[in-house]
Amino acid sequence: MKKLFLLLTLVSMPVFASSGAHLDEVDIDMSDTASLQRGAGLFVNYCLSCHSAAFMRYNRMAADLQIPEDVVEDNMMFTADRIGGLMKTTMPAKDAKKWFGKTPPDLSLIARSRGPEWIYTYMRSFYLDDNSPSGWNNVLFEKVAMPHVMYSLQGARHAVFKKDEHGREVFDHYEMVKPGSLNEEEFDAAARDLTNFMVYLAEPAQMVRYKLGVYVLIFLAIFFVFAYLLKKEYWKDVH
Ligand code: HEC
Repeated sequence: MKKLFLLLTLVSMPVFASSGAHLDEVDIDMSDTASLQRGAGLFVNYCLSCHSAAFMRYNRMAADLQIPEDVVEDNMMFTADRIGGLMKTTMPAKDAKKWFGKTPPDLSLIARSRGPEWIYTYMRSFYLDDNSPSGWNNVLFEKVAMPHVMYSLQGARHAVFKKDEHGREVFDHYEMVKPGSLNEEEFDAAARDLTNFMVYLAEPAQMVRYKLGVYVLIFLAIFFVFAYLLKKEYWKDVH
């Protein structure tokens, strides 16, 4: 019992990145198709202009997320001209390097290398910074070269830092400068949808696994009935 209690406390402890920055938990759910669809919408609108997700094809996404192909073709394909095309950015890597100082990395696998909590926290941690070339900085990713692409949704904020006991500057809170079109709760929900989608992106096969798991359970339930009847038949003369 003690061990179980210890395990539970460990599991419920907040997650910390190696840098010591606090990461917020996010509810990832591959069965929430509506959330994945909204996340895909945000991704093609706000991310593909700079980043690729070059392991993913539009028609695969359409099939997995149950989005009709004509909807994808008409509303989601800004960077490819055929539905079987890869989700590549149209921004040349050389120019991106010149403009941002860093080439935006491919995002196909980012949710696996960084983890969903990191992505979720990162997308919600941008703030205005006059000392940064893009005008933006990020509490989780100091001196990040990426601007806050969703500021029209979240709004523009200043970050207020305070000194900790060792005299180091640590993040304290945000102050809203210019509100966006979403309130905090709505923006968190949007960031969750986007993170959910990026987790799908990092391993599309998990959708198949998820569906397969349901079939396996149904099969086991039916098989149980026959196995039980057979057992009864075999043992009926033994007693
Ligand atoms: C205007 C161009 C641009 C857009 C649009 C953009 N990014 Fe970025 N992004 C960058 C650049 C440049 C970097 C590299 C930052 C660095 O290394 O300092 C980056 C880095 C990242 C990273 C960190 C990668 C890592 O681990 O080093 C993530 C995650 C990310 N972007 C996600 C997104 C998502 C999600 C969107 C859409 C909501 C998006 N980006 C839209 C330019 C962009």
